[in-house]
Amino acid sequence: MDLGISGLNALVLGGSRGLGFASAQALVEAGVKVGVNGRNAENAHYAAKQLGNNAVALPGDVSIPVGRKAIMQQMQQQLGKVSILITNAGGPPPGPVDQHDHTTWLHALETNMLSALDFAVMCLPAMKTAGFGRIINITSFTVREPYANMGLATSVRAGLTGAMSSLAKEVAPFGITVNNLLPGLMDTGALERVYKAQSERDGISIETAKQRMAESIPMQRLGRAEDFGHVCAFMSSRHAAYMTGQNITVDGGLVKSLL
Ligand SMILES: NC(=O)c1ccc[n+]([C@@H]2O[C@H](COP(=O)([O-])OP(=O)(O)OC[C@H]3O[C@@H](n4cnc5c(N)ncnc54)[C@H](OP(=O)(O)O)[C@@H]3O)[C@@H](O)[C@H]2O)c1
Repeated sequence: MDLGISGLNALVLGGSRGLGFASAQALVEAGVKVGVNGRNAENAHYAAKQLGNNAVALPGDVSIPVGRKAIMQQMQQQLGKVSILITNAGGPPPGPVDQHDHTTWLHALETNMLSALDFAVMCLPAMKTAGFGRIINITSFTVREPYANMGLATSVRAGLTGAMSSLAKEVAPFGITVNNLLPGLMDTGALERVYKAQSERDGISIETAKQRMAESIPMQRLGRAEDFGHVCAFMSSRHAAYMTGQNITVDGGLVKSLL
């Protein structure tokens, strides 16, 4: 299917690995020119090289305001204005709500909420002028179904969801859509850290820990990065023009909610 976005520019934050990288890959396949971000410069350059001539590396830390500005400047210098923005970063640490200190809360807010808002605000003027824009935030299935020990991650993403739901209505007249993608249990970095920890804690093999997780999912398998990347590319496409303010779960049926 022609997604109708060939030749446009996308900025994929946290795009050097995992779900971000799969999103960047699917966008490149659709003919989009992609700026790939990540803190580790070597990994970002390696990712851009894997993606080919239509990708550039934009190393930097999205949790720091000055880092965000530098990434945006690099994007504009190397590729130009952003038509498609994918916001993403590593998730906050797990743990009981009453065990996180103030600094940890502030860091999670900066990394997983305020960074996405800042980038959206920086990209909006050019999107408004063009009469086209796609903003897609990678959040989490826990926004739909809270889990114990995931309070920090869920809170900052719920906050982002609230802000983005208002933004979606504000920018809809300009042809800009704003949506959130909620990964379920996907076999990428964030989950890898969880099943490795479970394997050590419970004295089981990594394969057993993965299998145990897979059995909790109606589709009986963990999600693959590409399951996610293609949905992201579709939501970036011209065909998704009438969908905005949505929370789209990519989870193999995991979440126990009606909507
Ligand atoms: N995988 C799942 O099952 C799952 C489920 C629910 C929610 N999520 C959330 O979805 C997001 C992506 O997950 P994933 O599994 O794809 O993670 P991942 O494989 O660990 O990849 C994270 C990416 O973000 C980059 N990154 C991390 N912190 C950054 C920062 N401060 N500034 C810029 N780049 C940063 C990483 O590169 P560097 O390390 O080089 O910075 C990497 O490219 C995470 O927020 C995760 O919590 C994942």
